[in-house]
Amino acid sequence: MSTAARIDAAVTAAIRAGQRGTTPPKLAAALEYAVTPGGARIRPTILVSVARACGDDRPELTDAAAAALELIHCASLVHDDLPMFDDADTRRGKPSVHRAFSQPLALLCGDSLIVMGFEVLAQAGINDPARALGLISVLGRRTGMPGGICAGQGWESEDDIDLSAYHQSKTGALFIAATQMGAIAAGQEAEPWEELGARIGEAFQVADDLRDALCDEGELGKPAGQDDLHGRPNAVTLLGVRGAVGRLDDILAGAISSIPACPGEAGLAQMVRAYADRLVPAAARAKLTVPGE
Ligand code: IPE
Ligand code: IPE
Ligand code: MG
Ligand code: MG
Repeated sequence: MSTAARIDAAVTAAIRAGQRGTTPPKLAAALEYAVTPGGARIRPTILVSVARACGDDRPELTDAAAAALELIHCASLVHDDLPMFDDADTRRGKPSVHRAFSQPLALLCGDSLIVMGFEVLAQAGINDPARALGLISVLGRRTGMPGGICAGQGWESEDDIDLSAYHQSKTGALFIAATQMGAIAAGQEAEPWEELGARIGEAFQVADDLRDALCDEGELGKPAGQDDLHGRPNAVTLLGVRGAVGRLDDILAGAISSIPACPGEAGLAQMVRAYADRLVPAAARAKLTVPGE
């Protein structure tokens, strides 16, 4: 089965489990609305790619880990769009969850997806509790405090933002979870995989800043120009378009050289290279052909 089909099946199975029995129909529908159709699903794709490169000897754990990570990511977006955070009306080209349902349902939907992520891992761990515990621990660490996505969102309530801690926790954390959970699901140590996740996360953040500055809402499927609007520090303001694209290329070269030795090392390097090409928005490449940009 292709990586995308595996991820899709695992996410759908998790959502179906959350809709079983007598459930409040609107909240049950909101769960599905928040995860389908998915976005790029880049985090679970990295997770499954790392697991495959490491042998993928317990595919049921890899699938559960991929679903859990995507559920947490989707939950973070549902909460992020709420009026008390970014107040975004659209996400993935359709109304955000609180606009399509309501604010209470969006809050509950995000909460349910987070809990569901950990439940999926606990249930899949029956045949290998040690690996499941490792997965739960990494996902918890990269979701909450002190260094997970909650911390990342928390920085936005501070007067003085530590930019590096902000980006590492808001964006980097789930990319580190992706590489480390892929390794753990396949029975490998997590630690050697941290650098690859951190570097891909850093590159993703720069690319996201470029897209936010250069693309419009139609292309993004969500509001554009948010960094400027909310006065958030970003790579384009700091480095300019050319500088930001150069930085992206440097980070990804570092990412490739940080891939730990494993049977699928060459294939993984190829995946990162292919991802790099897709990361830089066409609008940024076009700007680079204009002298002085
Ligand atoms: C958006 O992430 C949130 C950020 C961390 C900037 P993605 O761009 O991966 O969102 P989807 O899942 O593809 O919609
Ligand atoms: C959302 O970050 C990421 C998290 C909730 C962790 P942003 O607010 O920067 O991303 P978008 O632009 O809404 O996707
Ligand atoms: Mg935000
Ligand atoms: Mg946002």
